[in-house]
Amino acid sequence: MILRGKFISFEGVEGVGKSTQIARFKAFLEARGHTVAFVREPGGTELGEDVRKILKFADYGDRMSAEAEALLFSAARAQLVREKLLPALAGGACVLADRFTDSSVAYQGAGRGLGEKKIAAMNEFATGGLVPDFTVLLDLDPEIGFARTRSRAGESADGKADRMETFPRDFYERVRAAYLRLAEANPQRFFVVDAALSPDEVFEKICAEYVRRFA
Ligand SMILES: Nc1ncnc2c1ncn2[C@@H]1O[C@H](COP(=O)(O)OP(=O)(O)OP(=O)(O)O)[C@@H](O)[C@H]1O
Ligand SMILES: [Mg+2]
Repeated sequence: MILRGKFISFEGVEGVGKSTQIARFKAFLEARGHTVAFVREPGGTELGEDVRKILKFADYGDRMSAEAEALLFSAARAQLVREKLLPALAGGACVLADRFTDSSVAYQGAGRGLGEKKIAAMNEFATGGLVPDFTVLLDLDPEIGFARTRSRAGESADGKADRMETFPRDFYERVRAAYLRLAEANPQRFFVVDAALSPDEVFEKICAEYVRRFA
């Protein structure tokens, strides 16, 4: 029997546990017989990883316009869709995405104030209309998320601060609120989990919901 793959994205502000849960959920899907591909945003392709470095660590980062930032994320995503996502899904694999289009709506649309509708339209162009089958939103007070990431080693090899992690609290409150609006507007796609629960409890909820919807 050929198992039909699903496209599943994980969303939420920094430190909510996306990476933690994706690793566990990948093993869960593989144990159920799926081939699982993993992609992260921005990145996942050679072009995307270069864009990721610009977005996170460029020396001119403090002068980057919000519009340029949004378009860079979109360029990385457009490449990811054509080079990785569509081929993997066509081959029957499940794809787990560490962030996708909802991140742009929440961060650039609401956080940076570019407008959620405008960013949604840009996403549509970048992805050719590809939408996840299932989106797990890990919802958490951003302050708690940041406390978690501070106790984790940074990803920059040369020790430079990560530009995306230097925004003030009100920015993250806007991002969190936008995520929750997206979830409310798209209940057939979203599953919101209280990310303040333990990693085991969060994982159990995600698996139970996946089984309820798709198994
Ligand atoms: N449910 C949880 N309760 C407490 N701590 C957690 C929980 N989930 C993950 N953590 C811890 O919080 C930190 C951040 O988790 P993780 O890296 O998975 O988050 P993330 O959403 O991927 O963050 P980022 O957006 O920065 O990539 C890690 O040290 C992880 O071990
Ligand atoms: Mg992560």
